[in-house]
Amino acid sequence: MPTRGNSSSSEKKKPVLYIRTFGCQMNVRDTEVVCGLLKRQGYKITEEAGEADIIIFNTCSVRQHAEDKVWSEIGKYAKLRTPYSVRRTHNQRPIIGLIGCMAQNYKEQIFQRAPSVDFVVGSSDIHKIPSILKRLAIDHRPSTIDPLFQVKIWETDGSKRPEEIYHTGYYQDKDHAYVVISEGCSNYCSYCLVPYVRGDLHNRDYKEILKEIEEAIDNGINKFTLLGQNVNAYQSTVSFVQLLKLVNGIKGLEEFSFITSHPKDTSVELFQAMQDLEKLKKYLHLPVQSGSDKILKLMNRGYSRRFYLDLVQNYRKIVKEGLLTTDIIVGFPTETDKDFQETYDLVKGAGFNAAYIFKYSVRPHTAAENMPDDVAKVDKERRHKEILGLQKEISRKKR
Ligand code: 5AD
Ligand code: SF4
Repeated sequence: MPTRGNSSSSEKKKPVLYIRTFGCQMNVRDTEVVCGLLKRQGYKITEEAGEADIIIFNTCSVRQHAEDKVWSEIGKYAKLRTPYSVRRTHNQRPIIGLIGCMAQNYKEQIFQRAPSVDFVVGSSDIHKIPSILKRLAIDHRPSTIDPLFQVKIWETDGSKRPEEIYHTGYYQDKDHAYVVISEGCSNYCSYCLVPYVRGDLHNRDYKEILKEIEEAIDNGINKFTLLGQNVNAYQSTVSFVQLLKLVNGIKGLEEFSFITSHPKDTSVELFQAMQDLEKLKKYLHLPVQSGSDKILKLMNRGYSRRFYLDLVQNYRKIVKEGLLTTDIIVGFPTETDKDFQETYDLVKGAGFNAAYIFKYSVRPHTAAENMPDDVAKVDKERRHKEILGLQKEISRKKR
């Protein structure tokens, strides 16, 4: 006779989690953090939204378009009807959570715009997700509550993440890991929402970074990407270049790189380290954003066109066969055809291996929000297309 409560039936009762990730590598890593924390609590991770008890959207706010995508996806997923293992609400739908940059950007306003969302958690509060889910599962017990009553929980006040979250050992890839070395950004580029949703720059202790890498190596991982929104501004008791040297010296590590660098924190010393450290990939992602000094100033980038071009020249000289990629925004407030031409010429001269081109999108809280978004949509589109075409040709020739 089959017995109740054997291991296979308790296996079935494990709550099942599905996470959809939008945005940059930082969010990819945050998704791993959440999965790692919940796995520790006995949750099962699925790739099938239809079988999930809990659905989490890890969101991006970098451009309006990124947010629009999330709003429309939530609507779709909220219609799912799941056989419940955590709780059985009146309508048997999954618990839905929204985390990441949009959580921080809209906070509890999210509940008005997307009523099916049950919890909202900001970037510095993700360690609270296991306890939030427990509270939701308990508070949602059926029959004790009015069917229209819904518990909503939001946590968006944290300032610094606890170090432990990076040591769950959960990575999506078998042989590669993203390792956060710093969080947030204090540059306040006038178009950018990051400082408002991710907070000011926090550097992790270098010993913790090395420890995380060593732990991952023990688990069979040998390739690493060091992550930071302004990665080369890293500074703790060691500098960024010193950190690269320490990482290069870790036994069992085969290859590593870092992303994303800011030109103002980039130096000849960094290029020399890139050339000398044998495990460091000869790859630099160095967003220029614009080739016009007027626009760079309005963007609050802290460097000139000349400064950027000198960096490129030094990079080419010092880092043999180094790859170089960039980001560009077209249609920033007051960008004229002449400003655009300067960006076009810079792209032509710099010989990037790849360039990611974006149309300017007004973001709340930012300084540029108060500037006129005066480049017509058709002009943004034309400029976008022109640089894309140019870069495509350059990339093709480089292959
Ligand atoms: N509008 C358009 N593009 C933006 N980026 C950041 N903020 C905006 C914005 N408001 C681009 C920048 C950055 C990349 C990640 O996204 O080029 O480097
Ligand atoms: Fe998007 Fe920026 Fe947030 Fe990354 S840090 S998810 S790019 S808004």
